[in-house]
Amino acid sequence: MINVALPKGRLGEKVYSVLDRSGYGSKEYSADSRKLVFSGGGVSYFWVKPSDVGVYVDTGAADMGFIGKDILGEYPCGAYELLDLSIGKCQMCVAGKKGFEDGFSRPLKVATKFVNSARRYFSSVGREIEIVKLNGSVELAPVLGIADVIFDVVETGDTLRENGLEVIARAFPISARVIVNKSAYKFKTEEINAVAEKLKGIVNYENNQI
Ligand code: PRP
Repeated sequence: MINVALPKGRLGEKVYSVLDRSGYGSKEYSADSRKLVFSGGGVSYFWVKPSDVGVYVDTGAADMGFIGKDILGEYPCGAYELLDLSIGKCQMCVAGKKGFEDGFSRPLKVATKFVNSARRYFSSVGREIEIVKLNGSVELAPVLGIADVIFDVVETGDTLRENGLEVIARAFPISARVIVNKSAYKFKTEEINAVAEKLKGIVNYENNQI
């Protein structure tokens, strides 16, 4: 049996759908269930908060986990990054109100959940910032004037558009990564590789269909 940590939410649902189509689905799974543990196809799944996936894998509670590069960059863990699954693709962006121009006269006020990644990015481009740490609905910050810009994930761009914001710069691309516990990978190499390769095969096939 392999233990797998799935991130609750959009990405986890996408990943589970690929697992299901790869033959690792569970009869116990239901989209509206509140059950946090279920198993099937030789895999035991845990639904966890996306920012906690690394903790479950690092401690060995899960052998394998699925995590967005945004979260992995923000909360580094000791797990081994095995594979880029090429699903859940989006971008980490700087965005502001339409027409916003950085005057460079003072530190830029940046609202974000991704404090470490934002500090790294703005330091790499040599711009001094002041962080406004928020936990969600970050798009409100420039609208209500508590920050100049946001540093956040953009997928379709709908949330920005519907709130009168636009992308100013793209910081880095994001996609789902497969991470594995280092010692579990030594003992369960074949089982873990079998799941990873099957998933990658299905994703490649679907991504390459016209
Ligand atoms: C994320 C992100 C944006 C939105 C972008 O929020 O923080 O708000 O998705 O997606 P879009 O470009 O497709 O509109 P999430 O749904 O994870 O909720 P959150 O507000 O709790 O961060």
